[in-house]
Amino acid sequence: MLKGKRILLAVTGSIAAYKSAMLIRLFIKEGAEVRVIMTEMAKNFITPLTMATLSKNPILVDFYNPENGDWNSHVSLGLWADLYLIAPASANTLSKMAGGIADNLLLTTYLSAKCPVAVAPAMDLDMYRHPATQASLSLLRERGVHVIEPASGELASGLDGKGRMEEPEEILHQVDELFERKATLAGRKVIITAGPTREPIDPVRFISNYSSGKMGYSLAESFAGRGADVVLVSGPVSLNPGNPRIRRINVETAVQMKDAVISNVDNADIAVLCAAVADYAPETVASSKIKRKQSDMTLNLVPNPDIAAELGKIKKKGMITVGFALETDNELENARQKLKRKNLDAIVLNSLKDEGAGFAHDTNRVTIISSCGDVVEGVLKRKEEVASDIVDYVEKLLLCSRD
Ligand code: PMT
Repeated sequence: MLKGKRILLAVTGSIAAYKSAMLIRLFIKEGAEVRVIMTEMAKNFITPLTMATLSKNPILVDFYNPENGDWNSHVSLGLWADLYLIAPASANTLSKMAGGIADNLLLTTYLSAKCPVAVAPAMDLDMYRHPATQASLSLLRERGVHVIEPASGELASGLDGKGRMEEPEEILHQVDELFERKATLAGRKVIITAGPTREPIDPVRFISNYSSGKMGYSLAESFAGRGADVVLVSGPVSLNPGNPRIRRINVETAVQMKDAVISNVDNADIAVLCAAVADYAPETVASSKIKRKQSDMTLNLVPNPDIAAELGKIKKKGMITVGFALETDNELENARQKLKRKNLDAIVLNSLKDEGAGFAHDTNRVTIISSCGDVVEGVLKRKEEVASDIVDYVEKLLLCSRD
């Protein structure tokens, strides 16, 4: 898979830098071309001579070569690479990447890279666990950066925990997968709904739910990462899609979400309905703020359109529709009923009874149930990984629908 691929490897200051030398050897053995950027600090952990010898290319550290004034163009490096891998990625570099800081060649190259970017964090367990590091990683993930999770084990500090950079063989495996998955959905059009809807009561109040959009946005990134063109119909959330293949349409209400989905459904190959759509909306919306009274107040609610069910009625042959079922009890039975009622090809069940699953968490645990009888039970994972599993399953459905 790596034959002929151009990998730009950046190394930061970490004891795990020695593993990067092994990584270069593995990449070269697989037929990839490797160029290496090192930070000043990285040079204290492994010599540029070692890295230059292994990669068969001069090492890039500064914006220019002080000896002869030769300019190391971060723009052309970013254009040259098929993948920009930062391994090991220190807490300092991850925070700077998340903050858009551009004070060394590694960072300016990141900001101008057009290719997929992956990071393999390496640090002490407390640094890794720190909310600042986790916030940087979340932000980078949202922007489409692939994070190669560190492993657990003995750390340079002597402590035991999560923070060790993954072994070179595992990094190679994940890089291989990134290339393999890259274009499997090229030319496919996908519609995804994400986030909550808001149903206004008056100019200052609305009915909504706890959906953060994390699951739907992870799906959008995963589809786009495999080359699909994604229309992301999103309720109000505080996330931003990172991949330029994602076109976002912002909506507030269920009716607006339905209109956006229906008017974009032409030529769509896949629809994944992940939004938590309010089933009811106030019958009338007060034009000015409803004043507090001493007496009880009744809000008359009317049903919203069921977007998934409407799509189920009009979908063309060969189009795959996948819904979600958020349940609190009788989970499998309820999900199966929704699968049938909404004419879906598959439904992704998540239960609020599972700790760490459903609304707002970074993780989810899902069971995929298909109309042809498959029941695929998953374990608790990060939403990005769950999204990737769902996309794998959709690819399988696409193959079946072709046969
Ligand atoms: O956004 P996060 O914080 O990451 O949380 C993710 C999630 C919990 C919102 C997500 O994983 C999820 O379960 N989404 C569906 C929530 C939901 O509304 O489930 P439901 O069982 O009520 O709806 C069943 C299906 O019909 C869903 O695909 C839903 O999008 C769709 N639907 C529901 C009502 C409606 N009026 N129109 C719809 O299209």
